[in-house]
Amino acid sequence: MTNNRTIPQPRTTGILYIGALIPLILVVTSYFGIFNTNHNNMSEIKNVILIGAGGNLGPSILDAFLEDGSFNVSVLTRESSSSTFPSSVKVHKADYNSIDSLKAAFQGQDAVLSFVGGTAIGDQEKLIDAAIAAGVKRFLPSEYGSNTPNPKVVEIVPIFKGKLGAVDYLKKKESEISWTSVITGPFFDWGLKVGFLGFDFKNKKASLVDDGKGTFSATNLNQIGKSLIKILQKPEETKNTYVYVSSFETTQRDILAAVEKITGDKYTTENASSKDLEKDGKEKLAKGDFSSIPILIKSAAFGEQNLGDSTPEGLWNEKLGLQKESFEDSIKAAISGKLLGEK
Ligand SMILES: NC(=O)c1ccc[n+]([C@@H]2O[C@H](COP(=O)([O-])OP(=O)(O)OC[C@H]3O[C@@H](n4cnc5c(N)ncnc54)[C@H](OP(=O)(O)O)[C@@H]3O)[C@@H](O)[C@H]2O)c1
Repeated sequence: MTNNRTIPQPRTTGILYIGALIPLILVVTSYFGIFNTNHNNMSEIKNVILIGAGGNLGPSILDAFLEDGSFNVSVLTRESSSSTFPSSVKVHKADYNSIDSLKAAFQGQDAVLSFVGGTAIGDQEKLIDAAIAAGVKRFLPSEYGSNTPNPKVVEIVPIFKGKLGAVDYLKKKESEISWTSVITGPFFDWGLKVGFLGFDFKNKKASLVDDGKGTFSATNLNQIGKSLIKILQKPEETKNTYVYVSSFETTQRDILAAVEKITGDKYTTENASSKDLEKDGKEKLAKGDFSSIPILIKSAAFGEQNLGDSTPEGLWNEKLGLQKESFEDSIKAAISGKLLGEK
């Protein structure tokens, strides 16, 4: 007798199907954060409060956060302040001399971003103390400019010790709060618009430092806002470190060539050496004349020593996923009195 019983075959097709599904399952679970036990994931920083958001830099940052929409954003302003904000934004007022008042404003916040200006830059310790008391996870001090960790820069611009002091204080408090300090170089579109980069569009004049040949990094205001969003979305990678970002690496000569090409105008130039600017600025500073500050910053930022070039420090643009911007469009916006992207 023959045995008609069919011998069961291994179910290879089923196994193949499951095998093919595994990569898909992994992609889907990682995308939606399923099974993710890492508490430093994107959702870690959700509530952010901006201090001093009504100044030169702050409004562009606030706009970037509002447009992005992934964070709950509010602002903190002094009780005496006349700053105004869009009606959709929650505004906290506090007495900056009272830790309790500041702590109440920071309650429930994951990150505090400081954009305070002037003398308040050297006085951020109480903001940091209040953030710690309120259980805030990340503090970003008011930095946003020259490479202050470079001692050569601080030697030229002694007032930067205030920025350095805020980071030194944060370093001592790392067991209680994390920090990120963002170096941007001069604001590009804003600096062109207000003349800080040495261009007078009305009178077709350019004031160059060391013949305009020094390379420096510079960042548009909206790009700074985008950088901050990306930094907060990558809390682990950006923890307790300086982050260098830029829109462009350029020289005053490059900008002059672009301005002349765009406008079809020939500009007259004047030149000052970075050494003379430093001497002049330091003499003024010794007399308590604060008009010395932009003079000293220009000496450090545009001088032939290339102290304004952030590339040797390692730019974070790619790591953060920042998009490239148009150099020419940024200059065109500034010539028409606007920031890049401003309506
Ligand atoms: N890289 C560059 O080209 C460049 C250019 C400009 C500025 N920056 C840097 O960017 C940051 C912000 O500068 P900014 O020009 O935007 O500042 P700002 O306009 O001078 O001031 C920003 C805000 O700080 C608050 N503030 C001012 N004085 C204060 C005080 N004594 N105590 C407490 N709060 C005070 C005010 O907010 P409330 O009135 O709302 O309280 C003010 O609106 C600074 O670190 C600055 O060095 C860089």
